[in-house]
Amino acid sequence: MSIAENNRDEESNNNSDETSKVQDIQRSMSTIKHKFLVMSSQGGVGKTSVIVNLAVALAKKGMKVGLMDANFRCPDIYTMLGLEPTVAGNSDKQFIPIPYSDDLKVASIESFRQDIDETGVWGKPLKISDIRRFIASVNWDSLDYLFVDTPSGPGEGLRTVIRAIPQAKTIIVTAPHKIGGNRAKNMINFFRKEELPIFGWIENMQGFLCQHCGQRQEMFSTGPASRAIFLLDIPFLGRVPIDPRLGESADTGDPFLVKHPESEVAEACNLIVNKIMGGEKIW
Ligand SMILES: Nc1ncnc2c1ncn2[C@@H]1O[C@H](COP(=O)(O)OP(=O)(O)OP(=O)(O)O)[C@@H](O)[C@H]1O
Ligand SMILES: [Mg+2]
Repeated sequence: MSIAENNRDEESNNNSDETSKVQDIQRSMSTIKHKFLVMSSQGGVGKTSVIVNLAVALAKKGMKVGLMDANFRCPDIYTMLGLEPTVAGNSDKQFIPIPYSDDLKVASIESFRQDIDETGVWGKPLKISDIRRFIASVNWDSLDYLFVDTPSGPGEGLRTVIRAIPQAKTIIVTAPHKIGGNRAKNMINFFRKEELPIFGWIENMQGFLCQHCGQRQEMFSTGPASRAIFLLDIPFLGRVPIDPRLGESADTGDPFLVKHPESEVAEACNLIVNKIMGGEKIW
């Protein structure tokens, strides 16, 4: 039996439980003004790095922001913000997000999956109901913005996250190469099939300023990915350049925007945040 069939089987056996989870999710999300699912068609394009810094930028502007890490394959947000995972209990008690600052709080599926063995592999296969239990049990209180980090690429887990979070819009993060562009096109078609509103896309890792010669250099064949996505008429939110110091920030848990507020990356994130706060004006 495939994972999807297994999960469907499990879902049909737990219908009343599922109904109460749907109600819990609606309750937990009802006090959030704007919800964004941040997605990418492939792993490693910098989705988590980008949203962590966007969330920090929004919080610095005085917005109440939540970061939900629903990327059950690579939940990295606690690490990137230097937070110690609080373990959620098995009872029905609500999970209180971990504060990074007065205006930014975080809840990760990592808090719900403590059965990791010494090789970093989770003991039991993740079920669709585990993802819903996580989403349903977080008590966000009131927020201006919630960003949800999701597993990369289309699939059953991603579909569950999409369906569990009502009235969310999508932000797509891509890398500036042809393969990324082609994959993103497939992903955008997937969202359209799911009738999920697409708020816009961000191109990450777009060139870098050489520390030695001061010249701008490209890492990838820029152009094809952007052209492919522009043709699909998706609002463009901005480009984030490469900065080698960003990896170090992620590893030490110091968000780049806090450590290097004068950098090009910080400037790019602030411009994107202005568009997000401008909301429908970009359409
Ligand atoms: N603009 C950038 N400049 C330099 N390094 C970057 C940039 N964006 C991301 N990185 C680095 O690339 C690596 C992957 O980034 P990240 O973990 O954010 O990607 P992801 O898309 O969230 O990956 P996953 O699919 O595993 O969730 C990290 O080491 C990160 O520090
Ligand atoms: Mg990630």
